[in-house]
Amino acid sequence: MCGIIGYVGKKSASPILLEGLRRLEYRGYDSAGVAVLGNATLVVRKKLGKIDEGIARLLKAEPVHGSLGIAHTRWATHGAPADKNSHPHFDQSEKIAVVHNGVIENYDSLKQKLLATGHKFKSDTDTEVLAHLIGEHYHKRKTGNRKPETGNELAAAVSDALREVIGTYGLAVICTDFPDTIIGARRGSPLIIGIGKGEHFLASDANAIVAHTKKVVYLNDYDVATITPERFEVSNLGTDTANVQISNLEFSHEDVGRGKFAHFMLKEIFEQPQTVANALRGRLDFEGATAKFGGLNMTAAELRHVDRIVIAASGTSWHAALVGEYLIEELAQIPVEVEFAHEFCYRNCPLEKNTVLLVLSQSGETADTLAALREAKRRGHRALAIVNVVGSTIARESDGGIYMHAGPEIGVASTKAFVSTITVLSLLAVHLGRLRQLSANRATEILRGLEALPKQLEKILAQNDALNKLAKKYAKAEDFFFLGRGYSFPIALEGALKLKEISYIHAEGYSAAEMKHGPIALIDAKTPTVFLVPQDAMYDKTMANLAMIRARKGPIIALATEGDKQIKKVADDVIYLPKTLEPLNPILASVPLQLFAYHIALARGCDVDKPRNLAKSVTVQ
Ligand code: AGP
Repeated sequence: MCGIIGYVGKKSASPILLEGLRRLEYRGYDSAGVAVLGNATLVVRKKLGKIDEGIARLLKAEPVHGSLGIAHTRWATHGAPADKNSHPHFDQSEKIAVVHNGVIENYDSLKQKLLATGHKFKSDTDTEVLAHLIGEHYHKRKTGNRKPETGNELAAAVSDALREVIGTYGLAVICTDFPDTIIGARRGSPLIIGIGKGEHFLASDANAIVAHTKKVVYLNDYDVATITPERFEVSNLGTDTANVQISNLEFSHEDVGRGKFAHFMLKEIFEQPQTVANALRGRLDFEGATAKFGGLNMTAAELRHVDRIVIAASGTSWHAALVGEYLIEELAQIPVEVEFAHEFCYRNCPLEKNTVLLVLSQSGETADTLAALREAKRRGHRALAIVNVVGSTIARESDGGIYMHAGPEIGVASTKAFVSTITVLSLLAVHLGRLRQLSANRATEILRGLEALPKQLEKILAQNDALNKLAKKYAKAEDFFFLGRGYSFPIALEGALKLKEISYIHAEGYSAAEMKHGPIALIDAKTPTVFLVPQDAMYDKTMANLAMIRARKGPIIALATEGDKQIKKVADDVIYLPKTLEPLNPILASVPLQLFAYHIALARGCDVDKPRNLAKSVTVQ
């Protein structure tokens, strides 16, 4: 995924673009660039590397001036990270500059056609091909040397070019003929208009512009937007008119800053008592002993007829899906199947008449998950979504869903969104259960347990220093296991992913019971195992699995329940968690594992907010 921002107004564009890039850096940070139009001159600066080491230094050394500009931070898809492949890209005439987020699937055939007519390319990217195609259409429209009257001619040329394109795009285009106009377009990659007074913005997401305006328009697929300082208009390639709705952002500029924290990841870990409270707010119905939602768009009768749920997601959200499976099957007795979104799309998974697809996504833009949602809808099935980013593509294309209200999650490693997802899944399981066999008593017990979570999370966060000390003890290990059973198994997987994605240590999450069927061969004195062993129904069996690891001299770090007198005798280190109901243990157990990974990554000198090779949301399949 890449980040795009555009500005047109009366202020100097460069500082607005640079600050916007910093707010978008979590989307990708291989390289970054800006193109600014001032006095009919189009100046481009672009640089490999992260914002502060790359483009920020370049702009300080070689400033650009003008009140219209576009900028881009890149997560490489076509073309290696390199100065030449950084955006913006010019067309052949170098009068037009383009920034793009997405993948032009037919770029090679388009490139061959352009090469055949004498075009020369400087990069290996699909975006440069798109820029040349737009330039080709623009110059075709410019009869003779007549200077086009308005930016609409540029918008028309962009539309002509996009009709030849197969693939996804969120893009911004500027041209020296129109010093007050930016063209934006989207298909499959997010793009929003920010509405200011005497100025307008384009951005991949609202984080980049919330400092300037809270009034936004979420563009739809095939929309083409024309923005100038005084106005904006939107047309649509597919239909006659575009569906333009002005929305107000729910969060503020402060929410997208680091505040007093050293890293976004740490800030977001510490926000979890509040974000879990946000996920619960207005949804705990003690009178009806159930949970309530506003946007499922399914009646009680329709929900009672659901006889199977397929949950599709990716990465950390897929781990949350596994927790959802345990929750919904236990509390609502509805068969649940968890699918990797990318597998669901292509393996022709059988769906019965009353099967519902549920997708989970923090960003609401993950291409694999969006594809799964579209596949289920294509086959005529209801597709629901649990999403964090309001107005995101998945949120808007689903038939109904539930926002997790975790606020912007900037750290590439997902933390608060994961915990909010499983909080919402707990509520959903109660809601579905109460439409079926779940007793009022059991439901009330779960709701009370959920209500107590924010305070219990505060208690766990107070162990941050102890977790930091523990992390330093194990920071040099080169291999880790994370083991758990039942509800703890998905958290073992998630703990392993957190560690590997920010510290680059090889870590495997596994079922504690499954170890004896082979992987236990890997255990030795140099391979620590993090054992999730809450006092739940699986306690005795999990302790037996733990004994097998200990017998082979594997160091053991146990996550146990306060008051457990046994665990200290068999584990090298213990982290105690407050007692809660078995189905709610995943929410509490996630937090120490997030902090453990965070501190180990720091001890190893890793960039916890921008880990190598990753981006916050993967908008390519
Ligand atoms: C989580 O730490 C990772 N950054 C990644 O696995 C992420 O969960 C996955 O890409 C799915 O993203 P989504 O929730 O935005 O769809």
